[in-house]
Amino acid sequence: MPYQRDILNISDFDKADFDYILSVAGSIAESPGRYSEVAKGKLLATLFFEPSTRTRLSFESAMLRMGGQVLGFSEAGVSSTAKGETPEDTARTVSGYCDIMVVRHPTPLVPHRMAEVSSVPVINAGDGSNEHPTQTLTDLVTIHRRFGRLDHLTLGLCGDLKHGRTVHSLVKALSLYPGNRFLLIAPDALQMPGDVLELLDERQVSYALTDQLESSIGQVDILYMTRIQRERFQNPTEYRRLKGVYILDAEKMKSAKEDMIVMHPLPRVDEISPEVDADPRAWYIIQTRCGVLARMALIIKLLKLNDFMGERSRHACAAAHHSA
Ligand code: CP
Repeated sequence: MPYQRDILNISDFDKADFDYILSVAGSIAESPGRYSEVAKGKLLATLFFEPSTRTRLSFESAMLRMGGQVLGFSEAGVSSTAKGETPEDTARTVSGYCDIMVVRHPTPLVPHRMAEVSSVPVINAGDGSNEHPTQTLTDLVTIHRRFGRLDHLTLGLCGDLKHGRTVHSLVKALSLYPGNRFLLIAPDALQMPGDVLELLDERQVSYALTDQLESSIGQVDILYMTRIQRERFQNPTEYRRLKGVYILDAEKMKSAKEDMIVMHPLPRVDEISPEVDADPRAWYIIQTRCGVLARMALIIKLLKLNDFMGERSRHACAAAHHSA
């Protein structure tokens, strides 16, 4: 199999890749000390042209927890983008300063353009309303830790499914697994894009479109809430019409299964009432912690750090053998 260099779309990964991420993430959770120096001497650059809390900081946390180092910028205004530099020139330059690069950009496919000219692996940390593949790795690790599987689950995806890049990537990934069913809960104007629905049809995956959260919540194993994405709307009046359309509160949670979980990529605005936070089925903060495990596993995979670990173990065994 050719060496996987970048991760730009979730379709860059297959089930074997997901298994690898789940397995390494599980191993890190069990024995974090084993990984504390695996990235020693490596540099990760975070190039964020759009705001972020979780994605940027969890990548930085992941690298630092593995003994690596980080550099980067958290907004375009403090980089030479403000002077008119193209993303390609930024990528050409920064790839000389680091071993792996994480890019978030408000315009779809810009990380892909940067990957074309970069000499180091590029990770898409969210490109406009297109995709957010590492959020999906986070979500898969979360679901696997809770249910022990990624198949035969009913997911309710609720909110802004049109602009929500996390749900696009998540549906594409989970549609590879048998028995999954999707309830796509959104007003008509914010429903899942046609290309994602076409993929579900091609893969013969069961799904239903609805605008009703109340009548759907009792059916789901996972309720994946999303924010109505104000920054993606061309028309502010349309945003004002749709904001607040779904609010998950303690009353609605009474209709949910006892063993379901609520996920959210965060940040939230008003779509999950704070009173839900105390419910043991609220998994969105646990999900943020799984993001560090998933990103550690991804960095290990893209930089082939497990190979070096294996190499070190072999040297250690050989040394032990010689001295015995
Ligand atoms: N989930 C997510 O992408 O969060 P941030 O925008 O804070 O990175």
